[in-house]
This record gives sequence, structure tokens and C-alpha cells, in this order.
Amino acid sequence: MSGSPVIRARSLNKVYGAQGAEVHALRDVSVDITGSTLTAIMGPSGSGKSTLMHLLAGLDRPTSGTVLYDDLELSSLSDRQLTSLRRNLIGFVFQAFNLVPTLTVLENVLLPFELGGTKPSGEHREWILERAAELGLMPLLERRPHQLSGGQQQRVAIARALAIRPRVIFADEPTGNLDSRTGVEVLAMLESATREQDQAVVLVTHDPAAAAWADRVLFISDGRIVHDVGRTDASTLSEMVLELGGAR
Ligand SMILES: Nc1ncnc2c1ncn2[C@@H]1O[C@H](COP(=O)(O)OP(=O)(O)O)[C@@H](O)[C@H]1O
Ligand SMILES: [Mg+2]
Repeated sequence: MSGSPVIRARSLNKVYGAQGAEVHALRDVSVDITGSTLTAIMGPSGSGKSTLMHLLAGLDRPTSGTVLYDDLELSSLSDRQLTSLRRNLIGFVFQAFNLVPTLTVLENVLLPFELGGTKPSGEHREWILERAAELGLMPLLERRPHQLSGGQQQRVAIARALAIRPRVIFADEPTGNLDSRTGVEVLAMLESATREQDQAVVLVTHDPAAAAWADRVLFISDGRIVHDVGRTDASTLSEMVLELGGAR
């Protein structure tokens, strides 16, 4: 595990719901997310994986605790500053792909630049097109999202997350809709982002074969990190998942 901490989370608690009907989704979670590292988050359904990812990405605020990007504490930022941080430092691949229906594939991939009011250099644009080619998107660049299969939409979402070469990429089940060959290509691409771009990648997955690509695997159960292990093979990870109860 190399790289310095990009994100430091300390004593995170998240409680949803009104008094009397609270759900304690995260309990006292402290974790560093490091650059040049692919971190997988595993755990049973409802254990708090998405909640942790949302807090780390500044998409939601903790009930208590802090999230630091370098020396910036997210809770001290205004909504506008938070939006700007997300646009400039973070790439997302959500389970629902959030593609803009009126834009073409190429326009969707370049959208982070449009939103940030910047333009990629010639070299950077070429690099994006290379990633798009690896994802098999070249014949699809002029299509719109409704003309794509679920797997193709997922690959567009991945190309878009990589496009700005953000410091951190968050991906919630990014291989869920892909055939196994494309799934492996996506994991290889996320891994090479950590190697070549020094990015931190945080991947939520229930698939031990996908988590086996990670440099580090965090297991969450009932809102707590219960295991934090280095690179581990898929069959050992399957056993750990079963031990925690629940296939996902
Ligand atoms: N917006 C919300 N309002 C109320 N409860 C929520 C909300 N989001 C998640 N939860 C609850 O918090 C717990 C953790 O959810 P989540 O982080 O989505 O788990 P996971 O991603 O591991 O399946 C679950 O009990 C879930 O029902
Ligand atoms: Mg989830």
C-alpha cells in the first residue's frame, strides 16, 4: 500500500431518520484513503457501504465526525465550494449512470470539462479518446444514452469519471452490469489509474473477484469497519463475506 492519504475520515457517524426511528448507518468510522491505491469496500446489504462512500465524496454530511481532503475539512465548506471540489478532484461512477439524455456519448464524456469551464489540452483529449477506445466506445461516440445497452452506458460513465484525471475516483458496483470480459477491462483500467495517474480509487463491490483486484479491502458490518486487509485472493474474500453473513 503506497501513497499518502488523500482523504482522512475521523470518527464518522451517520444517523438517518427522525427521533424514535433512527437508523445508525455508520458508527465511529475512521479511515485514510491513499493515493496510488485501489481500495475496495465490501459488506452485507445495508451495512453502510454507500453511506461511507457518499460521506467520503462530500455528497452527504456526517451526523458527527470529520472528512479532510489534505487540510480542507469538508464540513467547513459552503455548498458552492463543495461542488467545486467535487468537480475538480473527484470522478464518480454511480449505480444509476446519471448520463445526460440529450447529449451524445462524446459530450457526456467531456461534460466534466464543460461544467468546470475548462478545455482539455490536445494531449489530454487524445488520452481520453484512448481510454474511450479501450472501453469500446469509439463506434458509439455520436449516439445518445437511450441508444445504448446498460453495459454500454456503464462504460460511458466510467470514461466520464476518468476524463478529468481526478485525484479520487469513487465507483459503486462499476462492474455490476458488465459481462465478465468487459468487467475485467474496467478493473484493469481502474488499477492502471492508480499506477499511472497516482489516483485513489474507491470501489464498492459485492463481487470477491472484483475486490481481488484491490490493494486493500475494507469490510463493513453494521456500520463499522470490521476488517481492513491488503491484497487478498477471491476465494479468501468469499469466505470472509460468508462469515459476515449474506452474499452481498
Ligand atoms: N436516505 C436514507 N434514509 C434513511 N435510511 C437510510 C438512507 N440511506 C441509507 N439508509 C439506511 O442506512 C443503512 C445503510 O445503508 P447503505 O449505506 O445504503 O448500505 P449498503 O450500501 O451497504 O447497502 C441501511 O439500514 C439503510 O436502510
Ligand atoms: Mg449500497
